[in-house]
Parts: sequence; structure tokens; C-alpha cells
Amino acid sequence: MSDPCLAESIETTEIDYMELDRIIEEDFNNDKENLIMMLQEIQRRYNYLPTPALTYLSTSIGVPLSQIYGVATFYSTFSLEPRGRNIISICLGTACHVRGGERIREKLEESLNIEDGETTEDLRFTLESVRCIGCCSLGPVVKINEDTHGRIAYTEVDKILEKYE
Ligand code: FES
Repeated sequence: MSDPCLAESIETTEIDYMELDRIIEEDFNNDKENLIMMLQEIQRRYNYLPTPALTYLSTSIGVPLSQIYGVATFYSTFSLEPRGRNIISICLGTACHVRGGERIREKLEESLNIEDGETTEDLRFTLESVRCIGCCSLGPVVKINEDTHGRIAYTEVDKILEKYE
């Protein structure tokens, strides 16, 4: 882990083990066949897969931790590093690119003081570039969580960010 801020966040992430038990036992019957869905649920709860939660899961369902890491690293939707409460997807697909997507990404990086793929120190935002999110006519497009912001100008970026805590 190269970023000390992120490393610290991992150490201090508080795991709700009762909730973890509920996910493992009640939602998924303690059945290791449901491993991927359990990981999805844990990631939904924490926005990433905290190491203590994976260790607990490993013991609970009897699957070696190395195997759980294998699954978690195979699928790009899983993250082993803390992610922001708000996930920003900046589209750099062709249609958005020709309409100024790069300029929007630069503005996002400047405003958040992070680079593409990074998370702010306060864990408020994670910035990720993507290739086409299926609404090309609205380009340039930025998606924040489930909200799609289309035809945005770089001068609007800060105002949009303000809406997310
Ligand atoms: S290229 Fe950006 S939404 Fe398709």
C-alpha cells in the first residue's frame, strides 16, 4: 500500500461483525457458493473490501483467505483499497472525448487534488475514468454514484461536486 492515508484508513475501518454475520448467515446461508454475492454485499456496505471483513468471512464459510483474495482481484468491480463515499466516473469514450471529456477530467483532478484512479484523503470522492457509459448523446458525461450529469462544462464541475457530501 503506497499511500499512507489509505493504509491508515484500512487500519481504522470499523467492521460491524453483527452485520457481517447477518450477511453471511441470513442473507446467504453460510454457503460458500454465494461467495461473490457476499463480497458484493460487503463492498456495498464499505465501498471496498476491508481486510478484517475478508478474514472473518474466510473463517465463517471455511474458504481460504488466499482464495477469497483470488476472487476479489479477478473481478474489476471489487476494490481492496478504500474508496470514496462518492464514486465519480468520467467518461473518456470517443463521443465524450471529442466533446471535451479530457478537459473535464483535468478539472476534476485539479478540484479534488487527486489523479485518475485515486481517492481523496477524506474518502469523499474516488475518481475513475471509464469508456462509454451508454449515453453518448449527452457527452461529455460524468456519472456520480447513480446520477448522470450530461453536457457539462468544466466551469460547472465545482458546483456539481458541492452536491455530494
Ligand atoms: S462515449 Fe461517453 S457515454 Fe458514450
